[in-house]
Amino acid sequence: MSRPQPGWTVVCQLTDLVPERGAAALVGGEQVALFRVGDREVLAVQQLDPYSGAHVMSRGIVGSRAGAVTVASPMYKQVFDLRTGACLDPVGKEPQHLRTWPVRLEGDAVLVGTAGALVDALVAPLVSSATLNATEAP
Ligand code: FES
Repeated sequence: MSRPQPGWTVVCQLTDLVPERGAAALVGGEQVALFRVGDREVLAVQQLDPYSGAHVMSRGIVGSRAGAVTVASPMYKQVFDLRTGACLDPVGKEPQHLRTWPVRLEGDAVLVGTAGALVDALVAPLVSSATLNATEAP
């Protein structure tokens, strides 16, 4: 695999991701929830559920609403747009949004855009499919 450009971190391979299911990864020291929503499309939002304070968004239910690809929190069922992070249904609470990260594919490698190149060197060795699997444990 060629070395990713600065500002992008390889988090996993596309085949590590099950379509319509979330997976958690550590990117730049932050927990990110990855969702493979199409054959070759992956979306990334914060793993932290702003309503419950738990890192659970990767366990949310993927759906769609008015053309938007969405995830519903597994805690209190707030619905978010996976592309923009916007809260589409705050379930009676104040709307809070999810942070999003840009994602692109290089071959089958899934790359997440990070704020700076510095963190890449620190984080890249930590992130592997083992990280992804570890968060699936009950
Ligand atoms: S609440 Fe943060 S990892 Fe479970």
